[in-house]
Amino acid sequence: MTRAVCPGSFDPVTNGHADIFRRSAAIFDELVVATGTNPSKSRLFDPEARMEMLREVCADLPNVTVMGFDGLIVDFCREIGAQAIVKGLRGGNDYEFELPMAQMNSHLTGVETVFVAADASLGYVSSSLVKEVALLGGDVSGLVPEGVLARLQQKVAERRA
Ligand code: PNS
Repeated sequence: MTRAVCPGSFDPVTNGHADIFRRSAAIFDELVVATGTNPSKSRLFDPEARMEMLREVCADLPNVTVMGFDGLIVDFCREIGAQAIVKGLRGGNDYEFELPMAQMNSHLTGVETVFVAADASLGYVSSSLVKEVALLGGDVSGLVPEGVLARLQQKVAERRA
């Protein structure tokens, strides 16, 4: 049985992430979507809210589970018996950023990273841009799942109140 982990901040999950989950779930027997915190990024949603949104997005994928993790991703992979890490690639910048991490993770424990090419129509979608546009009053419908859109609109309303 092949189990893979798709890690990220997912702050919030976007339609780009959802596409990678769906396509990765078709490759592996089990996919664990694992949300962690990147201390170098500013956070909009707390970990519980991010996991709730992820669970809604993955609800129709029976071989996908959502978990949180702290510490090294390779340790988490070992704990849950995952053989591979899956990452979506939108372009060259993602590749330059992800390659040394994939090599480091392979060096540390032998876990391999599998790259899945982002759908061309979603290549410009990132959590950071979605947050920036939404918080400045722009329309991000079509770029994030409905539940995420509603939570973003709530954040905008809270900030305006
Ligand atoms: O791409 P993101 O969304 O910033 O990823 C966030 C997260 C938490 C998944 C990422 O920072 C991570 O994997 N952290 C675990 C720490 C780790 O294993 N670092 C060494 C990587 S070679």
